[in-house]
Amino acid sequence: MKLLFATTNNGKLKEVRKVFSETAFTILSLADFPPVPEIIEDGATFAENAKIKAKTIYDLFHVPTLADDSGLSVDQLNGEPGVFSARYAGENASDEANNKLLLKKLSNFPEPHYAKFVCSSVFYDGEKFIVAEDIMVGKIIHELRGVNGFGYDPLFIAEGFSVTNGELSLEEKNKISHRAKAFNRLKKIFW
Ligand code: IMP
Repeated sequence: MKLLFATTNNGKLKEVRKVFSETAFTILSLADFPPVPEIIEDGATFAENAKIKAKTIYDLFHVPTLADDSGLSVDQLNGEPGVFSARYAGENASDEANNKLLLKKLSNFPEPHYAKFVCSSVFYDGEKFIVAEDIMVGKIIHELRGVNGFGYDPLFIAEGFSVTNGELSLEEKNKISHRAKAFNRLKKIFW
């Protein structure tokens, strides 16, 4: 059976393909379909945004759809960047620009900068939504380390680790990541 994961983010796609690698499901992505108009993610929560993505893509292609919305929540910044994680430094901001802004904002606060990644994963087949959420707790450091992963990974050290997510292999990150855990939950609820 084919599932369409509503993403163009290769980092996310690799993580989710890994979660479903020993199932009968083939995970397609938006790269396998004609370009889609920009989806306005105006939900107040990760779950609302993930549902908006899943429904929009299902309505276009009529393939059972997986979607996620995720982001970083930093304690000292009252949960920022939150649902604005991808566009913290502005629309279409690069990971570099977002990371730089985060470090600038945190320079006013003492370490440790406790934070968590949150992921809401959603399945939608035109009839029902299934939602599963999970987190990864840790802290933000003051310099970029590692080239793996994406987004804020080079700045984030998960609880119990001494290296950043950017220094973990995909296999290592997938054991602890908010996204892998949320999609594993979804997989269990459903299949
Ligand atoms: P989304 O595509 O709307 O879910 O936005 C997710 C944004 O949150 C990404 O662009 C990253 O900035 C950040 N993010 C989410 N998950 C991760 C992760 O696993 N590592 C690093 N950054 C992440």
